Amino acid sequence: MPTSSIVAGINEAVGNTPLVRLDALFPESGVEILAKLESVNPGGSTKDRPAMAMVRDALESGRLARGGTIVESSSGNLGVALARACNAHELRFVCVVDARTNATTVRIITALGGEVDVVSEPDPETGDLLTARFHRVEELLAEIPGAVNLFQYGNPANPRAHYDGTMREIAEATGHRVDVLMAAVSTTGTIGGSAAYIRDHHMDTRVVAVDAVGSVLFGGTAAPRPLPGMGAGVVTELSTQVEPDQVVRVRAVDCVVGARHLARTEGILAGGSTGGIVSALGGLIPDLEAGTRVVFVVHDGGVPYLETVYDDQWVLDTLAADPDAIAEELDQLRRTARRG
Ligand SMILES: Cc1ncc(COP(=O)(O)O)c(C=O)c1O
Repeated sequence: MPTSSIVAGINEAVGNTPLVRLDALFPESGVEILAKLESVNPGGSTKDRPAMAMVRDALESGRLARGGTIVESSSGNLGVALARACNAHELRFVCVVDARTNATTVRIITALGGEVDVVSEPDPETGDLLTARFHRVEELLAEIPGAVNLFQYGNPANPRAHYDGTMREIAEATGHRVDVLMAAVSTTGTIGGSAAYIRDHHMDTRVVAVDAVGSVLFGGTAAPRPLPGMGAGVVTELSTQVEPDQVVRVRAVDCVVGARHLARTEGILAGGSTGGIVSALGGLIPDLEAGTRVVFVVHDGGVPYLETVYDDQWVLDTLAADPDAIAEELDQLRRTARRG
């Protein structure tokens, strides 16, 4: 990592994120755990990479021109990343989010000059908020002349950004030795691009997708999902091209427990989906051989989740789990993650 250099603009500060060894997370596990801190990207999440790649691709192909408009559906992080990327190219940006998006994330998008359109009612036919967001995007595209939708759910530039960036950096930092790779899934861009890199470079890596209970990805059954950014209510186009070696489904309360455990043991304040990965990892550890090297993605930072994942009242009201129940779950996670 460069320690004292000047970068030519904020876009040049995207990527080359740290890969950090976590010795305190599960100290009795015998497993080597490394975290890829995508949360330190300028937009605070892994989505800076696909946002830049998709905008560049749309500009280069001529689909989009300086002064044009992008309309995109996002659970929040892509919205932040696109708001930032659009400024660099003098583009107007309209972001369609839903009621689950963190309030702070909405304010960040607005502060960066993006316009936010909040969908509050699920699609009446499917009961799904993501489908309702897609319909709203269609309406806006019809209303705004020349507006372009980058469609992160099917755009090949999304996984390509993780192939060329996230996973390439992980592979180079580890000498291409990663036994287990864990990422949360929504569009499946992160896991799809990483899995393709692993395949093309003949790496012996088990790819584990961490999905939300209630997500329909990879054969899941639809149910409400209270946390943003994880899982999907529709089978995304990109997900049909990905076959993870394993899918682990986590509840929202697992995300809370995992995120709090990561914060208190390692001092890494992450978002809910990363908490879900930590929780899933705790469950995998008893079956991993000593010395196994696990790499997981820290998809975003925890500040926008201070009013949700890290707030006892929200957890009680939304997930019906009181602080004692969370403490009990945390104990259980620590016990489970001992090998042998
Ligand atoms: C917090 C968070 N975690 C995980 C993901 C999953 O990323 P992907 O869309 O690459 O599957 C997202 C995507 O929006 C996200 O915002």
